[in-house]
Amino acid sequence: MARQDYRISFGDLKVSERAKEYVKDALDTNYVSGGPRVREFEDGWGILFGHKYSVAMSNGTAANTAACMALYDFGATRGDEIIAPALAFAAVGNSIMQAGFEPAFVDIRRDTMNIDSDLIERRINNKTRAIIAVHTMGKPCDMERIMEIAKEYDLKVIEDCCEAYGGTYSGRYNGTIGDLSTSSFYVAHIISCGDGGMVSTSDPEIESVLRSIKDHGRRPGSMYFDHERHGANFRMNALTA
Ligand SMILES: Cc1ncc(COP(=O)(O)O)c(C=O)c1O
Repeated sequence: MARQDYRISFGDLKVSERAKEYVKDALDTNYVSGGPRVREFEDGWGILFGHKYSVAMSNGTAANTAACMALYDFGATRGDEIIAPALAFAAVGNSIMQAGFEPAFVDIRRDTMNIDSDLIERRINNKTRAIIAVHTMGKPCDMERIMEIAKEYDLKVIEDCCEAYGGTYSGRYNGTIGDLSTSSFYVAHIISCGDGGMVSTSDPEIESVLRSIKDHGRRPGSMYFDHERHGANFRMNALTA
């Protein structure tokens, strides 16, 4: 296949015949909420981009909010701070605040438009719990330095790959280096299903917390009103998947 056949233009959405068949199948089988199609999408996402666990969300903002909310299970408390780039789509700051944290903005580098890793340490204090590394417009952040800082200060790293899944850093897919990574399937992004999102991780404990958060804090897999933590409705449905 010629190289240009692989090109996907910015904002150029094409709904394939296969996608239409899947939607019709969901409608024909009355399977329009969660279920096997959503699980299939999560598994396929992991195979495509090397993630061990992926949890589908209703959109990228929900994915970022859920990723931040997961920090409560790992020692964070309300009002703690999350380091974020001073330049990023508004969803990043909104998600941090929606999750009950304060954004601590760090300036960006002019050459990459990504967070300046040399300026991160001066924003760290005893309330800092995580760094959100936003890979702006497909360009990866300086993950080597960010992971070094995170290790030194015991912080979690959330890679925001909403504009950058499929890109690589040192031979690894964006989103496979930090503790959690988020993706968006809004129409302006690389793959779209209208609105949709994903959080990926290699930690089974984080995966379990995310599955609970996206379903009102319910114990994962429980059919009962068995709510273990603060959550929300961030679920993806079968039509979207
Ligand atoms: C970097 C970044 N993070 C998060 C989001 C939020 O994604 P969504 O629109 O799916 O809520 C977007 C864009 O839309 C984004 O560009």
